[in-house]
This record gives sequence, C-alpha cells and structure tokens, in this order.
Amino acid sequence: MSAVTITDTTFRDAHQSLIATRMRTCDMLPIAEELDRVGFYSLEVWGGATFDVCIRYLNEDPWERLKSLKAIIKDTPLQMLLRGQNLVGYRHYPDDIVVKFVEKSADNGIDIFRVFDAVNDIRNMEVSIKTAKKAGAHVQGTISYTISPVHTIDSFVRFARELSELNCDSICIKDMAGLISPRDTYDLIKALKSEVGLPINLHSHSTSGMATMSYMAACYAGVDILDTAFSPFASGASQPPTETVVAALQRTAYDTGLDLNVLTDIKEYFVGVREKYAGILDPISEKIDTNVLIYQIPGGMLSNLVSQLEEQNALDRYNDVLAEMPRVRKDLGYPPLVTPTSQIVGTQAVLNVLTGERYKIIPKEVREYVRGMYGKPPAPIIDELLDKVLGEDDAITCRPADLLEPELDQITRKAQELGIVRKEEDILTYALYPQIAKTFLMGNAVEEEIKPAMCAFSSPGAMVAGNVFKVVVDGEAFHVEIEPTGEMTIEAKKPVPADSVEGGIKSNMQGMILGLKVKKGDPVEKGDVVAVIEAMKMENDIHAPHSGIVRDLFVSKGDTVRAGDMIMSVN
Ligand code: CO
Repeated sequence: MSAVTITDTTFRDAHQSLIATRMRTCDMLPIAEELDRVGFYSLEVWGGATFDVCIRYLNEDPWERLKSLKAIIKDTPLQMLLRGQNLVGYRHYPDDIVVKFVEKSADNGIDIFRVFDAVNDIRNMEVSIKTAKKAGAHVQGTISYTISPVHTIDSFVRFARELSELNCDSICIKDMAGLISPRDTYDLIKALKSEVGLPINLHSHSTSGMATMSYMAACYAGVDILDTAFSPFASGASQPPTETVVAALQRTAYDTGLDLNVLTDIKEYFVGVREKYAGILDPISEKIDTNVLIYQIPGGMLSNLVSQLEEQNALDRYNDVLAEMPRVRKDLGYPPLVTPTSQIVGTQAVLNVLTGERYKIIPKEVREYVRGMYGKPPAPIIDELLDKVLGEDDAITCRPADLLEPELDQITRKAQELGIVRKEEDILTYALYPQIAKTFLMGNAVEEEIKPAMCAFSSPGAMVAGNVFKVVVDGEAFHVEIEPTGEMTIEAKKPVPADSVEGGIKSNMQGMILGLKVKKGDPVEKGDVVAVIEAMKMENDIHAPHSGIVRDLFVSKGDTVRAGDMIMSVN
C-alpha cells in the first residue's frame, strides 16, 4: 500500500466536459502559482479539445497558453492529452507532422504525454510515444476503456504489455464515459499491476455516478494516480471532485497528503470562474445519467439530443436514437467511444435515424473508418457495411499513417507564402487546422462572446426552420439539421425559393460547403458527387439525384447551408 497521488484536470478535461472547453488563459494564470504549490502529481492543462477551441472560438494562441502556464508553474509537471496519430485534431497526420508537434509540445513545457488511440491500435501511437520518450518526457500509455464482448481484462492486459514494450512510463485507464464499475476497476488494476508492473493512473468521469466508488476500489487494488477536478468544475460529465477525493482518503493508507484548506482556498477562486461561465454551463452535463450504464453511451452525447427532441415535440425519435447508437457501434466492431470514434458512431447513428434508412448517408469519416484508415477495429465490421463502402476492394491492413506522404515541407512553404509564420509552432497550428488557423494567424479571428451555448452554434433562422438537432460529443456541440425527406437545405447568399428551380439539388443537412465538384455547364450523371459538405466535423458527399447539365450554382465554397437549401440546378 502506498500513498495515492492526484492529477488535477480543471484546466483541460473538466472545462471541456462542462463548459465546452471555454475557459480562457486569463482565467487560469491568476491561480496557477497556488496550484503549483498544492503538490499535485501533475496538472492536465493542454491537448484534447483545448487546441481547437483556442483558435476557433477564443482567439487565443494555444502555444502561448502553454508557455505562460509553464512560466508560472515551475514545480508541478504539466500534462497533455494526445490523440496518438491524430494529435489534437480529428484525422491522422503524417509522421513528420506528428514528430514535430510532439517535439514542440515538449519544448514549450509538456512534461507528461498521455497518449491514446480510439481503437487501442498501438500502431497509431508508436510514433508519438517514441518521439515523446526521445524528448525526455514521461509517457503515459493509455487504454481507451470500454465495455463490449471483445473487451476483456486479458485484452486490456495484452494491450498494456504492448505499451510497456514501447517503454511507456505509466499506464492510464481512460474511462471517458464513466462506465467502469468498482468491481471491474479492482480486477483490471490488480491484473495490470501484477502482469505489467507499471504505475497505474485511473481517469474516469462521474457521468454514471460510479466514479468515486470506483476510485476507492482503485485504491484497494493499488492505483498510483487518480484524476480529479476542483469541485466547481467536477462531477456530472466531469471528473470526481479533488477536495472530496483528498478528504475521503485522509487517514487511510492511500492518503494523498494534500492540504484540504489549501484546496478549499483555490476552490473559492474557481467558484468565481464558474459564475463567469454559468450561461454556457449545460445543466444536462452536470447531472448523473444512468442511461450510460445500459447503453454505454457517454452522457453528453445523447442527453443533449434528447432535450432538442423534446423542444421540437419529436421525442418519439429518442428511443430510436438510443437504440441506434449501440447498433452502429456493434456494426463498426465495438470501437470505444472517444474522439474521433464518438463522432463517427454518433453522427452515423443520428443520420440513420433522421434519414429513416440505415446507412443511406455514410459520411466520409465513417467510410474511412470502414476502410481501416483509423486502425484495426476491436472486432470485425459487419459485412453489409463492408460491402456498401468497399465494394470489391479490401480494407487496408497496414499502419494507416504508412499511406500518408510527408507534409511538413509543403505546409511550411504554404504557410510562409501566406505570411502567417511568426514562430515555428504557427506552421503546426496551420498543419492541423488549415482553415481556421489561417483566419486566426492572420489576426482576423474574433473572440466569441460569453453567452448561452445554443447561440454560439446556430443562427436564429436555423433554430426556427426545419429539424435542428444538437449533438454534443466530448463537450463540443454540433447542430445537424435534416429535413424529414432526407433532402438538404442551405443558407445561401442569394436564397432561392426551394420549389421554383427546375432540377434543383438541395442540401440535406446543415453545414459548410467544403467544395463544389462541378461548374456551370458540366454534364452530371445520376449519383455523381456534385458537392462536399462539412457537418459535425465530418465530410459528406452530396450526390446528384438525377442526370443533366449544371445550369446554375447557388452556393460557393465556404458558404453555410441549411437542410433544404438549394445548392444548384441540374437538368
Ligand atoms: Co476524460
């Protein structure tokens, strides 16, 4: 038995889980010195959605945030969450980008890299793990925890051994949905301790209400590190409260030794920060959601959809969506639900229900998952889906990133031509998020106002017209608008009355036009891809419902469209 240590997640996972990652650097710096003096094992301050949200909504440089925290926090290791080959983005990046990103993260102050992969495919993690090790950092090899017929203690131990063989310094059990029971916690940690022997960190969420009990069971099994967040940003979809866990372990063999009075003083500061963001605090993500125990779906993903369905008197779809999510997950081979697989499964399930036909629309990301581009699924994908996506082809069996050409040189040149490179890190920001990084680095980004979350994501018009559904994944909200017929609508610059255009092709979801595949005068065959639309961070093809000549285009690249909006006429 030994003392347990604490990783505090208030500056990363906690605000990602409760206020859509909107805490600003100016909320963090005033309390950073006090946090450094507590004696935490580490402070999770970077990675996950923080990078994206900084440049997309806060007009903040994530690298500057890291540097300024590092300048104040001198004794406590700073930790980040890294999505393996996905880094802090949503797709696989080539190795040269991965290496550079990890090196620069270490340079700027990350001491501990928590590296995970959504499907626990070690091949998606090895480049970032090796690079972080080479940079002298502590690497926490991470198990994405889930429950399924193929996820057994043996399978997790086997995976932890692979992580150990890559010289990971510790193992994290990442229970992102708050699914792990006290019994399973105890058995898994016991097995990992005896079979692998590395220090064990348990990361859970209070979603199902079991986390504090599982943390106690983890102590009995010999856990080394527990993840918590200060109480104003704890519980619900976030971590268990730091003060509570520290108090609960006092005068036991697992005593953290942290001073409850010091923690309470810091807590008072965060009460004020919470006040500041009260308008975007999602009441649903604060609640215990026991549905997760039955459906194994992270709370925020479905409960927000439910409230939207209620508002629109369409609650009859609730059970359909609830039932569809695990079915899609099963069809796809039981991936753990975490970025980006949570988006992949969540989006497909919503589309299956709202279009009224399973796999009628399959977004590009789901196709790529089926092709093996996200790694090896934990269990085989069903034949129906393989046939539909692959046809005669086979899924890839190599490491997905082996198919990616190096990009760094080309992206460096492009960024330099744009005149947006003031420091080397800017090239990486641009490599990860080309569209929004350009706006941000050119100084054209605007800080989002602190206001109710709903307003931040959808225009008032979108809320009035059609069926708008809000899907929240990993603390990030997405609006999908779908017409009951499965056709698309758009807010075009010059709106065209939907029924008055001969041969009109409509958008069947709300999103942004990523590209038009045809120009005026082009011949089009029925089924051709005529446009690509981004919705819920997924790319979706729009197919021509009939053949003809493109007579007119009503939208341009970059336009925001709504379900049912006309995008072009073909006749
Ligand atoms: Co988490």
